[in-house]
Amino acid sequence: MVRVLCALTIWLAVALRLAAAQAATTAKSDTGVAAYAFDLSQVTLGEGRWHENQNRTLTYLKFVDIDRLLYVYRSNHNLSTKNATPNGGWDAPSFPFRGHVQGHFLTAWAQCYAQLRDDSCKDRAVTFVAELQKCQSNNKALGFNDGYLSGFPESDFDELESGTLGNGNVPYYVLHKLMAGLLDVYKLVGDNNSMAVLSALGAWVDARTEKLSFNQMQKVLETEFGGMSEVLTDMYGQLGDSRWLAVAQRFEHVAVLRPLSTGQDQLNGLHANTQVPKWIGAAREYKATGNQTYQAIAHNAWGITVRAHTYAIGGNSQAEHFRQPDAISGYLTYDTAESCNSYNMLKLTLELWQANPENTTYFDYYEQTLMNQLIGQQNPADSHGHVTYFNSLNPGGRRGVGPAWGGGNWSTDYDSFWCCQGTALETNTKLMDSIYFHDETSLYVNLFVPSVLKWAEKHVTVEQTTTFPVSDTTSLHISGSGTFTLRVRIPAWTSGAVITINGVNARVRTSSGTYASISRLWTSGDVVNITLPMTFRLLPANDNKMLAAVAYGPVVLCGDYRSGSVSTTPTLLLSSLRRTSASALFFSALAGGQTVTLRPYYDAQGVNYVVYWMTTDSLSKS
Ligand SMILES: *[C@@H]1O[C@H](CO)[C@@H](O)[C@H](O)[C@H]1NC(C)=O
Ligand SMILES: *[C@@H]1O[C@H](CO)[C@@H](O)[C@H](O)[C@H]1NC(C)=O
Ligand SMILES: *[C@@H]1O[C@H](CO)[C@@H](O)[C@H](O)[C@H]1NC(C)=O
Ligand SMILES: *[C@@H]1O[C@H](CO)[C@@H](O)[C@H](O)[C@H]1NC(C)=O
Ligand SMILES: *[C@@H]1O[C@H](CO)[C@@H](O)[C@H](O)[C@H]1NC(C)=O
Ligand SMILES: *[C@@H]1O[C@H](CO)[C@@H](O)[C@H](O)[C@H]1NC(C)=O
Ligand SMILES: *[C@@H]1O[C@H](CO)[C@@H](O)[C@H](O)[C@H]1NC(C)=O
Repeated sequence: MVRVLCALTIWLAVALRLAAAQAATTAKSDTGVAAYAFDLSQVTLGEGRWHENQNRTLTYLKFVDIDRLLYVYRSNHNLSTKNATPNGGWDAPSFPFRGHVQGHFLTAWAQCYAQLRDDSCKDRAVTFVAELQKCQSNNKALGFNDGYLSGFPESDFDELESGTLGNGNVPYYVLHKLMAGLLDVYKLVGDNNSMAVLSALGAWVDARTEKLSFNQMQKVLETEFGGMSEVLTDMYGQLGDSRWLAVAQRFEHVAVLRPLSTGQDQLNGLHANTQVPKWIGAAREYKATGNQTYQAIAHNAWGITVRAHTYAIGGNSQAEHFRQPDAISGYLTYDTAESCNSYNMLKLTLELWQANPENTTYFDYYEQTLMNQLIGQQNPADSHGHVTYFNSLNPGGRRGVGPAWGGGNWSTDYDSFWCCQGTALETNTKLMDSIYFHDETSLYVNLFVPSVLKWAEKHVTVEQTTTFPVSDTTSLHISGSGTFTLRVRIPAWTSGAVITINGVNARVRTSSGTYASISRLWTSGDVVNITLPMTFRLLPANDNKMLAAVAYGPVVLCGDYRSGSVSTTPTLLLSSLRRTSASALFFSALAGGQTVTLRPYYDAQGVNYVVYWMTTDSLSKS
């Protein structure tokens, strides 16, 4: 199915969708997309943990000193650094691939503006781009080629191409983040300057890579290069110039993508977060070209990762690497489930679901990973919403504590700037983007989160009120009136779901793992109540059925050991599990001979916890 992607620019009324051709929209239609995101401005979060996470990230976004963030760019392009203090961590002047986090800030400021029309976010984005443009304009004086823009010298790319670049240095990775940020500022803020900077940088990438033979380029692609194929394909979608698609296709890493196109799992030993963006790139290239090989790569990569490399909390990787298929039990360490990989897997999940919106599996995974891992990645006690890099799954693990550089620790205002701090800025400014979707005649409800959707095209507002997952019921309050099909995800984890309309059983099929569909003329005051009964579930390690995490409905639980140390995996008596509060998610069970409190993994902050348990008995029927 070919439709015009409804990516309307923000400053135009959403009603312009009816006249999409005249809006400053994407020039290219996407192939194979059957469900569409709403504009970020159409959905707002209601009170709750998600909104609180967003608020903390917004506070940091408006606090951070722009001159400090510009330091490595100005310094590299020989402009005054205005006496700013240099950053530490991954943005320190001596750090090899400094300059990546700035792209994440651009995206996060743009998303803040897109959603809230917050002028301080807009001003930061626009000012930052203007300052970057001054850096880019100074290239001649320095002997850099036209369009180059970075916090490190262009000679890093000479070294990359000649195979002499220092180990662990990843220049195209940084360029991708910057390009993605610039594209978002153009798309979401409407800053044409940002497209000018991006196009010049894109032209630099074109000139640089055009000179290389296929084999030379494949050699370059052995070094982590982020989502270069993704962002260049998006430029093609945005501008319609096939030049960008051709440059994107130079970033197809054949050694990784070819086995995936035929469903082979050759991920063992690969750096995980290097690979996921290549798959997102393939998904985007499918939408740009209709070439099914790309779709097969994206589809197979997702299935292999989710089935054979994923922990109970939705994340993958140990010490940043994929291990053998199904190898979970031997890798429950402090450095599991790198946060960036999950951010990227969620992007890939969206791509696949939009091509196949009948299938609930994708949003079951989305919910699992976002709720358990990424919401919990942020420290709720920190007003700047700092985050962890990994998500420890070792017995006695604890957020914010870890032996490696940055690894187990919370991020800081100016001395971390790791990849996972950057992706968390993005995650926590777009939490509203995956709750609702639509096509011409349907509204999809994929996530159960307090929020308000203004579906202007249908003159309908839907307010979702819920304390889910504390409560198993969510309510959709309709105002305005219109005919459409409501499609509600009935997760695989529930059974016996019930939907009522205005208190009366709607008598629709609510089988778990399907979308329940209700078509009717909706009118103001209609209330749809969706109840998704939760029970205890076991999430065993693929390679050891006796070793399992426990979930309650969608919520992965962990034992709260406070400051008590735990060094070996306790045995949990499954038959002893009880919920101990009706108004909060507190549970108790016997583990290792003592009574232990269990609570959501995302809420295990400032305590030592246990996620995976040895088990010898079965869950009692509750
Ligand atoms: C978020 O911040 C806004 C503005 O500061 C405030 O009105 C709102 O109550 C906050 N919401 C949450 C959930 O923290
Ligand atoms: C960098 O700027 C300084 C003045 O701020 C100038 O003296 C120097 O020549 C410049 N270096 C290059 C390589 O352009
Ligand atoms: C941005 O560029 C577009 C197309 O070139 C133009 O229509 C629009 O007016 C420009 N916007 C601004 C704010 O200059
Ligand atoms: C589809 O993409 C694959 C992977 O890049 C390529 O090998 C193949 O030639 C393409 N097929 C067509 C019809 O363009
Ligand atoms: C849904 O997608 C998943 C992942 O690709 C697949 O395993 C499953 O068979 C699909 N379900 C249906 C009903 O097509
Ligand atoms: C973790 O952060 C704290 C506070 O910023 C710092 O004192 C400590 O050295 C860090 N630990 C590691 C292992 O990096
Ligand atoms: C919907 O569910 C909420 C929460 O359980 C309840 O308070 C409300 O009375 C229900 N409304 C209808 C119309 O069923």
